[in-house]
Amino acid sequence: MKTFRVMTVVALGLAGAAWAYGSGPDASAALAGAAWAHGSGSDASAAATATGSARISAAGAMATGTAATWQMAPDTTGAALWSYLQQQDYQENWALYPGTTELYEGTEPHGMLLTTYVNDAARRALRNDADRMPDGAIIVKENYTPNADLAAITVMYKRDGYNAEHHDWFFAKYLPDGSLDQAPNGMALQGRVPGCQACHSAQREHDYLFMGNM
Ligand code: HEC
Repeated sequence: MKTFRVMTVVALGLAGAAWAYGSGPDASAALAGAAWAHGSGSDASAAATATGSARISAAGAMATGTAATWQMAPDTTGAALWSYLQQQDYQENWALYPGTTELYEGTEPHGMLLTTYVNDAARRALRNDADRMPDGAIIVKENYTPNADLAAITVMYKRDGYNAEHHDWFFAKYLPDGSLDQAPNGMALQGRVPGCQACHSAQREHDYLFMGNM
């Protein structure tokens, strides 16, 4: 928690940089909002000097803003994607999948209640009726039990060149604590996951998406 607070503060500092790179007008506002929502830690300067925090917060600044000009995408590993999602604070900063609400009634196998978020790249593609998701698009689906307890987080992340055969989707399934869920054979559910690919490829004509608009 402490680390995260620091990151939002650093990200706020980068709002200036976002402007310089020609990002949308709501970038700094969104960042300021993120910083406020989480409070500004008094320990900001200490951790801000840690290696990597500037890079991480740059990614945060990008995705809360509307700039595509200096996008930074996470590596295609389950761990990198998870920490990116935490840094983004996607529940606060990303949009819900167009046409959905929080905890809408889901379809199998994803759970009775679902909440689905899209990052800016994915949101724009849906809004513009694109045929394919662009490089860097991320869709996060939270899978809840009928009692609205979070059971799993399933993610699709488009990375050009990652897996041409399956439209370059990186799949991952996490447990609520951020660890990767496992297939019955013990394989961690990340990457070119056969089960995810097999079912989602039924939607090949819609870039592997079930939820529509593509
Ligand atoms: C048996 C078929 C099936 C399997 C297996 C499956 N999914 Fe899905 N997936 C669906 C359906 C159906 C939806 C639409 C759910 C809804 O919103 O009602 C969906 C939706 C999604 C979405 C939202 C984007 C979209 O397609 O509309 C994500 C992200 C997702 N699944 C990730 C995964 C991941 C990761 C795995 C593997 C761990 C996986 N899915 C395995 C059927 C499947």
